[in-house]
Amino acid sequence: MSKKRILTGDRPTGPLHIGHFVGSLISRVELQNEYEMFILVADLHTLTTKSNPVSMRENIINVVADNIAAGVDPKKATFFIQSEIPEIAELSVILGMYTTVNRLQRVPTLKEIMSDLHINQPSFGLLGYPVLQAADILSFQANLVPVGEDQLSHIEVTRELAKKINTLAGKSILTLPKPHLQKVARLLGTDGQAKMSKSIGNTIALGDTKETVKKKVMSMYTDPNRLKATDKGRVEGNPVFQYHDAFNHNLAEVEDLKQRYTKGKVGDVEVKEKLVVALEKLLAPIRERRAGLTNTQIENILKEGTAKARVEVQKTLDQVKKGIGLGL
Ligand code: TRP
Repeated sequence: MSKKRILTGDRPTGPLHIGHFVGSLISRVELQNEYEMFILVADLHTLTTKSNPVSMRENIINVVADNIAAGVDPKKATFFIQSEIPEIAELSVILGMYTTVNRLQRVPTLKEIMSDLHINQPSFGLLGYPVLQAADILSFQANLVPVGEDQLSHIEVTRELAKKINTLAGKSILTLPKPHLQKVARLLGTDGQAKMSKSIGNTIALGDTKETVKKKVMSMYTDPNRLKATDKGRVEGNPVFQYHDAFNHNLAEVEDLKQRYTKGKVGDVEVKEKLVVALEKLLAPIRERRAGLTNTQIENILKEGTAKARVEVQKTLDQVKKGIGLGL
């Protein structure tokens, strides 16, 4: 039996951080053996919000390098660039005919992005974000899409569009994908905010140096009501402990720190220093692998991957066009 297929991807907006690591990278590393995996660099999607041509090029290389450094194996997973496969954009134009403006206005991520980035009027492309994402997914006949909770509404749009095309064609042309929800809760920012995001500046990047990581951790937000080490502290909602839970494999140490913290028997400095050690165990090998990757290597991985991916997309587009009566 052939392997089931996964399609997933990142917008090349900047260096990946430890939130991406628990949110998507770990699961990619786990799933890459069991599934046929395609990983897209969603550069077109990046144009839906402000983007800069110079950093875009850098980010495309870096997002792939970060994935590989984190353990995604380019021999197992296929990396490709969205904009280099024009058939994806063509499928997106077709799919756009089968949903309404109203439906897309109800997608919750639209309001979130508009409010986060202070956008009054969405561009046509931003409104159509989920349609383009549906084209990404359906092009590959993906069975599974690993996503965070915020992306579930996009998978719903994707399924609706696939059903419409299948109904119209009178046969099952497009595979209905299922979301694969990430197990781990979203990582808080180093400032305690609900979202770790480069635009807020509260991330720890996978490529941060040891010194930077230390500086960021030592100035992390903790329990704001705890003024002295002898005050009783709260572990819940405290990003330092959330990171300990996510990255410190010495469970006895974490448990001991939590006990002492809630009793007012440990200082922030000790808790944070131990977190620095745990993070360094994770990040040192990633940093080392990243340093061993050249831009030329990454470009070649992308060229080969894109050529291989494009064949799959062309097959699907051909079937869809025939199915709905387009062309000769
Ligand atoms: N929307 C995704 C994000 O913001 C990126 C993305 C684009 C994607 N196309 C995709 C993810 C297809 C999974 C499948 O993270």
